[in-house]
Amino acid sequence: MTSTLPEAAAPEVRAAVAQLPAYVAGKSAQSALTAALASNESHFTPLPSVVDTIAAEGGRIHRYPSMGAVEAREAIAGHFGVSADEVAAGPGSSGVLQQIISAVCSHGDEVVYAWRSFEAYPILVEVAGAVSVPVPLLADEHHDLTAMAAAITERTRLVILCSPNNPTGVSISAEALEEFLQSVPPRVLVVLDEAYIEFQRGPGVDSLDFYRRYPNLCILRTFSKAYGLAGLRIGYAIARPEIAEGLRRTAVPFGVNRMAQAAAVASLAAEDEILERTEAVAQERTRVIGALRGLGWDVPDSQANFYWLRPRTSCACNFLTRWPRPTSWHAATRWTACASPWPMPPLMTACWQSWQTAGGSCLGRAPPSEHLHGNTR
Ligand SMILES: Cc1ncc(COP(=O)(O)O)c(C=O)c1O
Repeated sequence: MTSTLPEAAAPEVRAAVAQLPAYVAGKSAQSALTAALASNESHFTPLPSVVDTIAAEGGRIHRYPSMGAVEAREAIAGHFGVSADEVAAGPGSSGVLQQIISAVCSHGDEVVYAWRSFEAYPILVEVAGAVSVPVPLLADEHHDLTAMAAAITERTRLVILCSPNNPTGVSISAEALEEFLQSVPPRVLVVLDEAYIEFQRGPGVDSLDFYRRYPNLCILRTFSKAYGLAGLRIGYAIARPEIAEGLRRTAVPFGVNRMAQAAAVASLAAEDEILERTEAVAQERTRVIGALRGLGWDVPDSQANFYWLRPRTSCACNFLTRWPRPTSWHAATRWTACASPWPMPPLMTACWQSWQTAGGSCLGRAPPSEHLHGNTR
């Protein structure tokens, strides 16, 4: 409906906000044969024990939740062998990241991050009035940590590393992280966003060990992905007590609701079941990526619950771009993955949201970045 309000002088949003791209929600599933995977959610429903906890807590929502998410923080602290003072929770790890940026960045301060990476980084940085310093990924999709270290200036207050990286699925190695942290001035906070860490297999980074050795490292994690609580919104940071306290101070009051807090505690208690689920995803990931490589696709090693396709051959691009509607990407990638008549498993999908943000279009032309982002389930 068109607005009927008079056009007289009216309050305006800040220029930085007006210039932000409008949020484009991931497409929802259009039939039983497609699945909405744009946000890398878990395809597993929450654990039954967690659902029971949420239902019980639902009967108490006439009361505000614990302001500092005390029980959840204590459970997280116990799980990782740190103190609750070193934990800050928020409405999803994106909410926690917003708290981090408000806590450490003043207007005009710089935030260095790899690009492409999680779509929310530039938005959160710019909303805070800070300045984004995106550093392109290397050709093999790894973070260019040398270039990121070189991008640090007097104005840099924060560096965000994403491992496994969204959308490429590629992880940072322990050696590379060690070298990077040694080169970062201790006054710069380094956030290691490990939203998908539960899907990591094989040698990875023991981030708790790094955290104990590097006071300027902050670990950022979420219950949204492996734990299947995306709809409840709870994430957390582990950081030095004075930093964690700063994050709690910049939080929206009562920002983590009662059900989310209780579900987080219950989820940590069900670690074995979570491990079983992540293991199933990791095994399917190995199978799907192997099948794709067998078909000639260039797929970087993914340690997440999705993988990144870079169509290099004109044949692949032609195949993928001749489908008339965005939803057809689901069929296209699914067909490509299993080399068998759709809808045989495994399920894959193009990441429509990332695609659109990259300025791509499915309507008969290759997207500029020539990337596809698929999920395994
Ligand atoms: C790398 C990364 N970090 C953080 C998030 C935010 O997750 P949430 O706010 O649900 O915790 C996401 C979500 O897609 C992500 O991909």
